[in-house]
Amino acid sequence: EKGGYDYFMLKEIAEQPKAVADTLLGRIDPSGSLTLDEVRISPSELREVDKVVIVACGTAFHAGLIAKYAIEHWTRIPCEVELASEFRYRDPILDSRSLVIAISQSGETMDTLMALRHAREQGSKVLAICNTNGSTIPRESDAVLYTHAGPEVAVASTKCFLTQLVACYLVALYLGQVRGTKWGDEIQAVIKDLSRISEEVERVLETMEPVRALARTLASKDTVLFLGRHVGYPVALEGALKLKELAYMHAEGFAAGELKHGPIALIEEDVPVVVVVPSSRGRSVLHDKIVSNIQEIRARGARTIVIAEEGDEAVVPYADHLIRIPATPTLLQPLVATVPLQVFACELATARGNEVDQPRNLAKSVTVE
Ligand code: F6R
Repeated sequence: EKGGYDYFMLKEIAEQPKAVADTLLGRIDPSGSLTLDEVRISPSELREVDKVVIVACGTAFHAGLIAKYAIEHWTRIPCEVELASEFRYRDPILDSRSLVIAISQSGETMDTLMALRHAREQGSKVLAICNTNGSTIPRESDAVLYTHAGPEVAVASTKCFLTQLVACYLVALYLGQVRGTKWGDEIQAVIKDLSRISEEVERVLETMEPVRALARTLASKDTVLFLGRHVGYPVALEGALKLKELAYMHAEGFAAGELKHGPIALIEEDVPVVVVVPSSRGRSVLHDKIVSNIQEIRARGARTIVIAEEGDEAVVPYADHLIRIPATPTLLQPLVATVPLQVFACELATARGNEVDQPRNLAKSVTVE
């Protein structure tokens, strides 16, 4: 049932192009507009929304962090993202005009369920993004957009993360479409790019051998740091989470702009630092800033592992290891940039002799608070 792979995680990483395509299937019509018929919140209700709040845990929370960039950019609706376990304990400000999005692979995560119950008690509408048909979270929500990743067996989430991102982009684009805000050429172009993105994910998967080889050389390290900015920041957090849970290594993700506010003190000789470089198209200011960050940490001895778009030559002189990903629009980059980090964590875990599909102390679905 592992389809010839040693671990479910490897199989699920390889299934990502299909999972992404399946999640898009039937949701973008030939004219380029979006139909999300499982969203049983009326367009007029969606036009009333004045705030979006995303609640989730772990990897799903990282998908939510990325969704915030897309939702605010495409719809101009303020969006907060909060760990479900923190949410209801701080008396959050919610009312009938708040749209709460609960993201959960299993649909059974107790923290997320309690957060959505709290939101509904305040009169907010809840939209679930979920991978498990008929599970508790979608049953208790006003609307659901299912991710079509298929069953995910490995404890560490991979293909579900990518499909959660796709679902978040669809929701953001749909909100933009319904409300008519910023619904212009950019959004049409993004929809086109999104419909081609599964091929790009496939291309990334075809080039992962050097990433595996690199991971094996780092098996005896204690720490790996991850840097990113803009949507690359949550990608860095996700890369670090995968490494913690699978390789049991100290791994931390930072916003690259925060380096000089503290984390740069951690840089010492030969510490591996993975840097997710923003797309050089569109947000070139951020791109240039991160190139200087790479220079700074390298000057202090870091071993730089740079994930950058094809054609980005500016990073070449400062990359001890260069991992290429296809060029995509800025907001979609996490769909391709996360894949090497999953492969990296999986290979490091294997090299350290860890059980990849069943990491110690973890459960696939966390049904207690
Ligand atoms: C990480 C991982 C966990 C889950 C989290 C939420 O690889 O699997 O962090 O993402 O426990 O689970 P769901 O999405 O089922 O609510």
